[in-house]
Amino acid sequence: MANFDEVIDRKGTRSVKWDFAESLFENKEILPMWVADMDFQVPDAVTTALQDRVAHGIFGYTLPDEEVKQTIQNWVKNHYKYDIDKDWITYSPGVVPSLHMLVQALSEVGDDILIQTPVYPPFYNVVKTHGRHIVENELNFDGSRYTIDFEDFEQKIKDNNVPLFILCSPHNPVGRVWTESELKQMADICVKHNVTILSDEIHSDLLLGDNTHTSIASLSDEIDDVTVTCYSPTKTFNLAGLQASYVVTKDEKKRERLNRQFQSQGVNMLNTLGLTALEAAYQHGEEWLENLQKTLTENSEYARDRFHTETDTITVIEPEGTYLLWLDCRKLGLDPDELKKFMNEEAKVGLNDGASFGKEGEGFMRMNIAAPRQTVEEGVDRIIKAVNSKA
Ligand SMILES: Cc1ncc(COP(=O)(O)O)c(C=O)c1O
Repeated sequence: MANFDEVIDRKGTRSVKWDFAESLFENKEILPMWVADMDFQVPDAVTTALQDRVAHGIFGYTLPDEEVKQTIQNWVKNHYKYDIDKDWITYSPGVVPSLHMLVQALSEVGDDILIQTPVYPPFYNVVKTHGRHIVENELNFDGSRYTIDFEDFEQKIKDNNVPLFILCSPHNPVGRVWTESELKQMADICVKHNVTILSDEIHSDLLLGDNTHTSIASLSDEIDDVTVTCYSPTKTFNLAGLQASYVVTKDEKKRERLNRQFQSQGVNMLNTLGLTALEAAYQHGEEWLENLQKTLTENSEYARDRFHTETDTITVIEPEGTYLLWLDCRKLGLDPDELKKFMNEEAKVGLNDGASFGKEGEGFMRMNIAAPRQTVEEGVDRIIKAVNSKA
């Protein structure tokens, strides 16, 4: 069983998070707590499956078979309450590639596409890159929790004749695990106005405390008909470098359009080792995942408690899911560039700049706490020390 307390040196593995941090943050002493991967080893069963596959020594073209499809079908049913048909699955190297394909397959150049801001920066890119326009349904924020402005959501859809809505569920960076009632309300509006829901559910297994995830498509047949869902084991089991994910589409027409889009770009296969890891993780990763969720919950509570008791200026937005803490740093009174500089140069902690998630993220920073407690403690110490010596 992986040891979630073990500090493992990731330097020298060409890790984006660790090896590229020094040049990105322009600081040799930076502690990387940014990009969304974890400093934990994968379940032993995944390592063993990969070792066995590597020992075979031949890595020709590979396709998922019935067993892989069955494994995915079981996982989606058991974890997301969503009963899918095996034929609804399309494989993809990643969720971001899928979003690019889906925007092209399911909307037209010039269309207005709805997103809920602040949000994961590639959501902006996948819309703009393909000549579509962003329409923002800004999330409501009361100083401690984000909720959905349903009135604005519907109005924006009507005013802009929106054909496609990209949902982030659970939400990165605000950490909300949307309730069934919130999902239903959004979905009903989409059904009413014939809007396709593109649901990015990559964080669906990263649940803190007692939170549970429901796939929006599972709520009714009608909703399932208008929804396309992107899933991946890579965020859950720390396999991002292996690039294996899948899209689930019930509606045959949408699925055909998506599959044609993938074919037209020459993307129609999964990485051999990614496939091996996906299957092993879904078949044998349950216990590891339970321990991960416990560790992430404890880490997030630890960081929250320390920031709240030892500073007057950093507020942690209580996360329900993901391992990304959304830190409200507005009380520091710094503009976005100054805040970034402060975290890089004074705290020496490499965080994601809140402003990169949209203008609503200005004054916020995103901190990745998927690391052994010792690393989290070091990051929290550094930020608290810098903040308190500024005051
Ligand atoms: C909401 C969301 N979607 C997609 C991704 C990336 O997906 P992939 O690595 O499969 O392209 C991330 C990674 O952080 C994410 O937070």
